[in-house]
Amino acid sequence: MKTPARFLLSSALLASALALAAHRSFASSTASDETKLGEIMGGMRGKTKALAGTIGDAAKNADSLKSLDELERLILDAKLLEPTDMPEIAADKQPAHLAAFRHQMALLLSEVAQVEAEVAAGKNADAEKRLKNKVTALRDEGHQEFQPEDEHGGGGGQGKKKK
Ligand code: HEM
Repeated sequence: MKTPARFLLSSALLASALALAAHRSFASSTASDETKLGEIMGGMRGKTKALAGTIGDAAKNADSLKSLDELERLILDAKLLEPTDMPEIAADKQPAHLAAFRHQMALLLSEVAQVEAEVAAGKNADAEKRLKNKVTALRDEGHQEFQPEDEHGGGGGQGKKKK
């Protein structure tokens, strides 16, 4: 059996562990979208890099289609989150900002789906062009509009300065 002193000590330790856990989950609740979006974006970069290496080659269409499918799923995940620069936006403009973020993600999803349709139809040159031009432009616009000011240029130099 535990002595009262040991019991008190272990209760105190348990209470501090619980308090710490509660604090951490509270503290991370405001930053979780940011972290999660950054993580998803890292995944999107991986898929687009893999695609760049296969998309022009019809013999690698199975690989390209797999990357495209995974990229589309990541875009859908990202679309459910809030843009990371939300705290920089005036409260009355936040709903419109969120809507614009989702709109940009929907445009990206649509463009990536067209890349997929072109690969599936064996139009590799068209697919490669769309990936290099349209998808990249939507990415850069997204970073210009929705990355926090101090994160521009992050993600492999893919961001631009806000106007
Ligand atoms: C295929 C297209 C895209 C790629 C490959 C891409 C890639 C990336 C990468 C590598 C980062 C840096 C992640 C990090 O913090 O480590 C990033 C950040 C970010 N991107 Fe994208 N991105 C794409 C499209 C978009 C679009 C369309 C939007 C907006 C609608 C967007 C919004 C953001 C935001 C807000 C961040 C900051 C995330 C954070 O640090 O919390 N991205 N992106």
